Amino acid sequence: MSKSTNKKKIDTYVQEIESLRNSGSFRRLRVIESTGTPYATMEEKQYLNFSSNDYLGFLSRPELQQAAIKATQTWGTGTGSSRLVSGSLKIHQELENLVAHWKGTPSALILNSGYTANTTLIPVLAGRHSGVFCDRLSHASIIDGCFLSRAKCHRYRHNDMDHLKWLLNNHPYSAGRVIFTESIFSMNGDEAPLGELVRIAKDHDTILVVDEAHANGIYGAGGAGKVEEYGFEKDVDFQVGTFGKALGSFGAYVACPHKAKELLVNKCRGLIYSTSLPPSVINVNICAVHLVMAERTLREDLIQKSLNLRSWIQEKLIQTCGGASQIIPLILGKNKKALFWSEELLKERIFVTAIRPPTVPEGTSRLRISLSALHTHDHIERLKKVLLTLAQLETKMTYAGSRKI
Ligand SMILES: Cc1ncc(COP(=O)(O)O)c(C=O)c1O
Repeated sequence: MSKSTNKKKIDTYVQEIESLRNSGSFRRLRVIESTGTPYATMEEKQYLNFSSNDYLGFLSRPELQQAAIKATQTWGTGTGSSRLVSGSLKIHQELENLVAHWKGTPSALILNSGYTANTTLIPVLAGRHSGVFCDRLSHASIIDGCFLSRAKCHRYRHNDMDHLKWLLNNHPYSAGRVIFTESIFSMNGDEAPLGELVRIAKDHDTILVVDEAHANGIYGAGGAGKVEEYGFEKDVDFQVGTFGKALGSFGAYVACPHKAKELLVNKCRGLIYSTSLPPSVINVNICAVHLVMAERTLREDLIQKSLNLRSWIQEKLIQTCGGASQIIPLILGKNKKALFWSEELLKERIFVTAIRPPTVPEGTSRLRISLSALHTHDHIERLKKVLLTLAQLETKMTYAGSRKI
């Protein structure tokens, strides 16, 4: 490539960055010196952290830290290859058996992250002549999985089951169809109508996949998620979930029937072409699943706190999205507005990230308040106080899609 072509390319990057800055969409990496809940430290200052998916405070649990150390000492720091070559250790299998038991499915497969799971599961389930039907607010990993599969992707209006049925009735595919939903939506914190989805999938003879990324660890008698809570283990064909959020670790699983696992082992590129998760991570995941099953009070306490804060926000500030989960969005509309609120909160030593497009739809930039079981009454009161002050500062403003603050 000639020097002038290179220069042109760099100029294009500069322009792109400038346009991101001008529209309030520019993102930068913050250096976090210590993380977790309830506190994160940045530039030597401690912030009350409402930005983390560490919903149960597991990042700092000594049992999990010990599990990582023990596994490293026993097995070493890595696995040296992908599962199919020589990287399938006994503890991978132990975790898979445990996850299958926890999720109430015949089998389970461990993958390297939730992103990998979705992007490489969908191409196994759907191909060029199939259709994938997913919610308009689906996580990027689901959308990317659809692209990679080369299937036709139909996105129904958020949680609109009539729209989904209409799409299914009008788009038959001889090679098969897949409905893909999150059980708790990552940026809205609201819930998919799982009962209706199960019925629709049955009526239309369609595979149903449920991503429990923000539900596992919290819902259901054993903390396995919304599928467990409603008893749909036999109705949902594939349950996907991550260990990276409530379970305080890393990695993901697909819980499914035995034959489906065999197919994935043979065809899922995320498993075949990537080094398997290290023993430390696998052992932390084993320990985290056991802890979740035992920590019912912690989970129930989080759900109650979430309900209280959500109803306070609805009453005093602004309409949030529906649902009752630990993810509470404060939809402010414009990018710059969301950034302003986030910066003002930082000045008060409270960390709530502004979430902007393309993560959320245009005009719905928001503060995504993420509650943890480790947030105390006083922490939440501190947050409320600053939010009220900010709202009073802007009483005259109307935000997109919401009533006046
Ligand atoms: C719904 C959903 N699925 C998958 C993922 C990806 O999970 P991981 O962080 O393990 O890659 C996320 C994470 O943001 C998510 O919100």
